[in-house]
Amino acid sequence: MSDAASPDITPAAAGAPATATAGGATQETTTVVEFTQVGKTYDTGYTAIKDVTFRVDDVPGHMEIVGILGPSGCGKSTVLRLIAGLTPQHPATTGIVKVMGKPVEAPGADRGFVFQDYTSFDHRTVEQNIAFGLECRGTPANERLELARDWIQKVGLDVKRDADKYPHELSGGMRQRVALARTLVLKPRVILMDEPFGALDPKTRYAMQDQLVALSREVQATVFLVTHSIEEAVYVGDRLFVFSNAPGTILQEMSIPAPDRPARVMQREPDFLDIVFSVRDLVEGLEMYDRAGT
Ligand SMILES: Nc1ncnc2c1ncn2[C@@H]1O[C@H](COP(=O)(O)OP(=O)(O)OP(=O)(O)O)[C@@H](O)[C@H]1O
Ligand SMILES: [Mg+2]
Repeated sequence: MSDAASPDITPAAAGAPATATAGGATQETTTVVEFTQVGKTYDTGYTAIKDVTFRVDDVPGHMEIVGILGPSGCGKSTVLRLIAGLTPQHPATTGIVKVMGKPVEAPGADRGFVFQDYTSFDHRTVEQNIAFGLECRGTPANERLELARDWIQKVGLDVKRDADKYPHELSGGMRQRVALARTLVLKPRVILMDEPFGALDPKTRYAMQDQLVALSREVQATVFLVTHSIEEAVYVGDRLFVFSNAPGTILQEMSIPAPDRPARVMQREPDFLDIVFSVRDLVEGLEMYDRAGT
């Protein structure tokens, strides 16, 4: 982390190309998601987003977590669902949405979605819920069982205690762990998360943030995380997009340091809080600027 006097927030122009060096050698970058002047006007005639342009690149071994902040109704979910190829947000009205260099045409296994509300099947156990996507893919039963059990543990649940439970027997935090495991077991290249931890108590929320950072690194996925918590975005994010009021567009893109200690430790530290306050000032400033209609 940077020193408290100068929080390490680097504003970056939206869509600016990324270059990366490791050990002095330039590594090849991959453009994972790219929006070019994307706009969405719904059938009702309402324009939710306009002129959204950004590019998220990565280099092998470093996939980014992108935090998306913005006022309610500014189009954050619209942006995530456009990446996922989900209707009615997809297709965009204007512009181009690309994932791994190709225009998005439909949902695909390369993109996994974790919603805010718990999206498990009520009539399936934890294990069966986590194995569901593998079943759809035709993974043999013994293999998917093994993988499901593996992921039960990875998200902090207990195979013996939890594998045979049904969603109604789980707490909110446990259900959200199942939702995360259901997505990650499929090893998507891009993970889309829409306020996934909003309903959790602070302690569980910290634990889930830690798990998200560790596991997204493990599966080598690029993550887009929509959140109303500036602390959460600053903690998990390598990069932040700050959206304007509707019709939403990116007002500011910034790079922030990656987390290197547990959430509940780091989020109390003065250096961390300094960055949070800087981002909060920036967001509030941008909102005022935006409301002034300029
Ligand atoms: N299917 C739809 N048809 C018409 N309008 C829609 C549709 N989906 C979303 N909208 C509108 O588009 C705008 C952006 O919606 P969106 O859900 O993307 O916002 P959001 O930033 O995710 O908000 P929140 O933070 O409250 O979740 C809202 O005004 C919403 O009413
Ligand atoms: Mg939303």
